Amino acid sequence: MTYEYIIAETRQNVGLIQINRPKVLNALSSGVMDELGVAIDSFESESSIGAIVITGNEKSFAAGADISQMKDNTFAEAFMGNFITSNWERVTVCRKPVIAAVAGFALGGGCELAMMCDFIVAGDNAKFGQPEINLGIIPGAGGSQRLTRAVGKSKSMDMCLTGRMMDAEEAERSGLVSRIYPAAELVDKVVEIAQEIAEKSQIAASMVTEVVDRAYESTLTEGVLFERRAFHALFATEDQKEGMAAFVEKRKANWKNR
Ligand code: CAA
Repeated sequence: MTYEYIIAETRQNVGLIQINRPKVLNALSSGVMDELGVAIDSFESESSIGAIVITGNEKSFAAGADISQMKDNTFAEAFMGNFITSNWERVTVCRKPVIAAVAGFALGGGCELAMMCDFIVAGDNAKFGQPEINLGIIPGAGGSQRLTRAVGKSKSMDMCLTGRMMDAEEAERSGLVSRIYPAAELVDKVVEIAQEIAEKSQIAASMVTEVVDRAYESTLTEGVLFERRAFHALFATEDQKEGMAAFVEKRKANWKNR
């Protein structure tokens, strides 16, 4: 498949998607989001792929939704067209682990796209922000909700009300990102992490993403019950038998994803 706004490639068992509109700092047009959805569909249906990485370039992950494209939108067009919905949320329902590798700007929709991924690894030059207020709007792709859950009310209010950017150190300190690498090494390092995940049982990895996500959607009691049932269910898999046998026999597990 040839894409116009992204580059999609396979590295071992990892699907790597690079947003590729460098002249506009990877602004997220509907063309980008459509292609991102197609690439995720394709990697998700490929059984050898165990994890997906979404990245931009060293200067910008994505500087937000494409302002030129949306500036003349009317309320009726935004509402009736379900703007920022149909083609934006594909990543949130991907059943394979998705990691955002963020160097440079992750602003507005860019920050929101990163937060839709299962986790974020930052380059040391990363800058996160929800600057929509400077355009007379507010975050529209989940930023006010996911940022608040990630960093708490005070920082989220601060970021969304002032539009200021958070650097990589502050983002790691606040729990928004899991690790930081030098920007020049970021993609290779994140592909290594993704490959490490891809080498695990795909059933268990997919279950991890479901149970962790459930923490955002439920009470503690409900969430723990959901986790417990998923844990119980894994005893029905060949991978559980293989994983525990391999541990006891002091050998590497040979996952079948069954
Ligand atoms: N949409 C469209 N084009 C964008 C863009 C965006 N979000 N961000 C940057 N660009 C374009 C600029 O217009 C410019 O194009 P030209 O060369 O044709 O003029 C090019 O990218 C380079 O940008 P700058 O010259 O501005 O680069 P800079 O280094 O001086 O500044 C920046 C970088 C601080 C990121 C600045 O570009 C900026 O503030 N961008 C907008 C960020 C923003 O407001 N994002 C939120 C968008 S709204 C949203 O995302 C809603 C939502 O919740 C989904």
